[in-house]
Amino acid sequence: MNKDLISIGEMSRKEILDIFSLTEKIKKSPGKYSRALKGKSLALIFEKPSNRTYVSFSVGMYQLGGNAIYLGPEQIKLGVRETIHDVAQTLSRYVDGIVLRTFGHENVLEMAKFADIPVINGLSDYSHPCQALADVFTIREHLGDTFEKITMAYIGDGNNVCNSLIFISSKLGMHFNIATPRGYEPDESLLKKISPAARETKARIRLCATSEEAAKDADVIYTDVWASMGQEREAEKRKQDFKDYQVNDRLVGLAKKSCIVMHCLPAHRGEEITDSAIDGKNSAVFDQAENRLHVQKAILVTLLKRLIRH
Ligand code: CP
Ligand code: NVA
Repeated sequence: MNKDLISIGEMSRKEILDIFSLTEKIKKSPGKYSRALKGKSLALIFEKPSNRTYVSFSVGMYQLGGNAIYLGPEQIKLGVRETIHDVAQTLSRYVDGIVLRTFGHENVLEMAKFADIPVINGLSDYSHPCQALADVFTIREHLGDTFEKITMAYIGDGNNVCNSLIFISSKLGMHFNIATPRGYEPDESLLKKISPAARETKARIRLCATSEEAAKDADVIYTDVWASMGQEREAEKRKQDFKDYQVNDRLVGLAKKSCIVMHCLPAHRGEEITDSAIDGKNSAVFDQAENRLHVQKAILVTLLKRLIRH
């Protein structure tokens, strides 16, 4: 994380922990930060739908004394109406930061390259760093910060959310069990990329043969939709392929009694997660959703305060 927040892969352990410390302060005393970004504006470029990311960034900027401007799929049309280069350069003259939700991760990289202002990845097909930061902040609230004693079981698709959770686990020394159907594993190149960090922190990142193996004695059970945004045409096939990868009471029963159940949302209830798991006593799902707001306020303060305009 230099100017931008593109992927947890580029953050150091210290930068992650600093975000958590600041989040804690902001969450505890939001009033103290109500002018932290006074006069600053944030552009939200969204090529995909959103509830949490859009609302929490908008409300977050408002609570910090700044302003957010939503630019939906019909407005900017990246690469169609104009190049990412020109969008980045133009917005750099108007606003103080950009959140980009897009398909190809290379779009986020390109935006960051040409923008003079911070660019925050609000989800790409490769990663969802704000989600993973909020998730681990939530884990820390529920289970403490002795990460090396925590095992997370991720059940389902080896997608953008899974990738960011792998990155953050390897940086913090949290153990990560992954259960996906064959063909839906996270990218091998990503697993190679994280291995030096995982060696250093002793994080065990493990591909498991079944959901049961991954969930056994876990502290956290995590899942996400079987078909992500942009994969709607594969939804029917995926329902078949993922049928043994549902988070339900039976699976939660294999984990530690004190385990927490997590989902980044939106959820497809009855598919990757049952009502009883998402609404049950172990669920931390809505704490996670709430923490998107607090964590992103910390990210905004960190990145936008750094910016010195010439
Ligand atoms: N979890 C998450 O990013 O939700 P939205 O897609 O609603 O923003
Ligand atoms: N994997 C999901 C996450 C949604 C927040 C998607 O990309 O649609």
